[in-house]
Amino acid sequence: MAEYEYETHDYDVVVVGAGGSGLRATLGMAEQGLKTACVTKVFPTRSHTVAAQGGIAASLSNMGPDHWQWHMYDTVKGSDWLGDTDAMEYLARNAPAAVYELEHYGVPFSRTEEGKIYQRPFGGHTTEFGEGPPVQRTCAAADRTGHAILHTLYGQSLKNNAEFYIEYFAIDLLMDDDGTCTGVVCWKLDDGTIHVFNAKMVVLATGGYGRAYFSATSAHTCTGDGGGMVARAGLPLQDMEFVQFHPTGIYGAGCLITEGARGEGGYLTNSEGERFMERYAPNYKDLAPRDYVSRCMTMEIREGRGVGKNGDHIHLNLSHLPKEALQLRLPGISESARIFAGVDVTKEPIPVIPTVHYNMGGIPTNYWGEVLNPTQDDPNKVVPGLMAVGEAGCASVHGANRLGSNSLIDLVVFGRAAAIRAGDVVDRAASPRAVNKGQVDKALDRFDGLRHAQGATPTAELRLDMQTTMQEDAAVFRTGETMGNGVKRMTEIAGRMSDIQVTDRSLVWNSDLMETLELTNLMPNALATIVSAEARTESRGAHAHEDHPERDDSTWRVHTISRIAEAKVDLEYRPVITDPLTQEQQGGIELQKIAPKARTF
Ligand code: FUM
Repeated sequence: MAEYEYETHDYDVVVVGAGGSGLRATLGMAEQGLKTACVTKVFPTRSHTVAAQGGIAASLSNMGPDHWQWHMYDTVKGSDWLGDTDAMEYLARNAPAAVYELEHYGVPFSRTEEGKIYQRPFGGHTTEFGEGPPVQRTCAAADRTGHAILHTLYGQSLKNNAEFYIEYFAIDLLMDDDGTCTGVVCWKLDDGTIHVFNAKMVVLATGGYGRAYFSATSAHTCTGDGGGMVARAGLPLQDMEFVQFHPTGIYGAGCLITEGARGEGGYLTNSEGERFMERYAPNYKDLAPRDYVSRCMTMEIREGRGVGKNGDHIHLNLSHLPKEALQLRLPGISESARIFAGVDVTKEPIPVIPTVHYNMGGIPTNYWGEVLNPTQDDPNKVVPGLMAVGEAGCASVHGANRLGSNSLIDLVVFGRAAAIRAGDVVDRAASPRAVNKGQVDKALDRFDGLRHAQGATPTAELRLDMQTTMQEDAAVFRTGETMGNGVKRMTEIAGRMSDIQVTDRSLVWNSDLMETLELTNLMPNALATIVSAEARTESRGAHAHEDHPERDDSTWRVHTISRIAEAKVDLEYRPVITDPLTQEQQGGIELQKIAPKARTF
C-alpha cells in the first residue's frame, strides 16, 4: 500500500472546477454562508469558460419581442426532443433573471444605443414557436463574453469569502459504503502534497472532454475529469454519443470562430462561391442549429464543393460587414483569424471546418444538479452528497444537440440552482463525517501506481491513438461500420492503459503524471461515447447515423446510461422527462408541452 501523508480540510461544500458553473455554484454557496472551497487544477480565470465568445441566451426582448416560452420551445426542438422538459423549462424561465444578476455583479455587457444589454442572433433561436424570424436573444460582451463573466464571478466569489485551492488536481471521489459522496482526494501540483477535502456536498464542475478528440475548440485542460472520477466510483454517464461539432473551427488550428460572426451577418460559401445554406435551410440559412449546419458543410465537402487545394473545408465570409462593426462586435475573432489563419477578415474569407466543441452528455443530474444513479425502480435516484453542473453534467437540458449560447446560460442557471439546493440539503450544524481512510488509500494506491508505471506505452502515444480513433470513428456522420470499428479500436486502446509508461516519478510539477491522470479520465469518457453511439440505431441531433437516417421516437426517445469498468461499457436506458414544471395555455395550446415533430429550418 502506498504511504502518503495528507492534510485534511473540512468544508460544507467543495466545488471541483472554477469555470462558469463552478464559480457560480461557489459564489451561491458562499453567499448563503456555507463554508465553501473551490478546488481547481488551473487558475480560475484560465478555466475554459474564458474562451466562450458569442454570448449567453436569455429572452430579455431588448432588440425585439421575445418570450421565455419561445426560448424553451427552441431549446426543446434544438435538443431533437431528447432534453428533459423540466430542466429546459427551468433554464428558459430563469435565464433573464440570471443575466440581470450577472449585470448587477458587474459583467461588462456590450450596450445598445439606449444602454440596454446588446443581443445578437444565434443559430436555432427563433420567434413564434419556431414559426417566426430569428430572434436577437444572445447577450454579448463583444466576442469575449465568457472572459467577462468568468472574471466577474471570480471577483464576486472572493468578495463572499469562498476559499480557493488553486492548482490542485482532483484524483478521486471518496464514496462511503452507503453510496454517499463524502469528499475528494487532491494532489497539489506545485509542492506535491496530498489533500483530502472532507465535505457534506461535492460539486463536480470539471467541464467537458473535448480533448478525447484530435481537433477540438476545447482547451487542453478539457479532459473529462469529473466523468472519469464518477465512472471509477461505479456511477454512470449519460447520453455520451452526442458530441457537438461547431461549424466554424479554424481549418487546421481548431480555434473557435464564434457563431456570433454569422449572427452579425457573416455567411458560408463553397468552392463555387455559393451561399449553400440557402439551399438546405431556406428560412434560417446560416443561422440553422449547429448540428444541421455542420452536416451541410460536410455534405458540400463530400460532394466536391469544398474550398482549398484539397477541397476539404469551407469559407466563412465577413468582408462585406462594415469595419466598425467588426471592430466593435467581433474584435477577438478578427484577431484569431489573423493569427491562426493568416487572414484579414476585412478582405478575405476565413477557412473553417466543423470542429468538436461541446459534450451534450455527461454525469446525469436532475435540474438541481443532484447526481443520479438510475435504477429500474427509480430512474431519478439521487446520489447523496454529489452534484454536477455545467458541461460535466447532463441535466439533460441540451438533449441531442445544444443551441449556441445555451451553454453560458446553463452554467449560471444551474450553478445557481445547485447552490439553492445545497442551501436546503446541507446540514451546516452537523459535524463532518469521519474520513474514510480505506477510500483515501484506494485513491492514493491508484495515484502511486500511475506515478511508478513502468509499461512500454508513453502517455502521449496512447492519447494520440485515442484522439485519432475518436476523430475518425465518432465523427459528424457515422455508420454502423465506422462505429463498430471504433468500438473495437477504443476497447483495445483502453486496454493498453495497463501498459502505460510514466518516466517522471517526482511529485512537484510532474506534468507527465498529471497528463496520465487526465488520460485515465479521458479514456472512460471516450469509450462510453463510441459504445453508446454504436448502440443508437437512429439519427438524432448531433448523432447522424447514415445507416439509420431517421429519428425513431418510439424506440429511442430515451437517455443512454453507460456504466464503465476498465475497458468495458454496459448500457441501460432511462426515460426522457416529458412533463414540464408548469403548464400554461394560450389559444388552446399547452405552451410547455411540446410534442415531437420533424426538425426543419
Ligand atoms: O460560437 C460561439 O460563440 C459559441 C457559443 C456556444 O458554444 O454557446
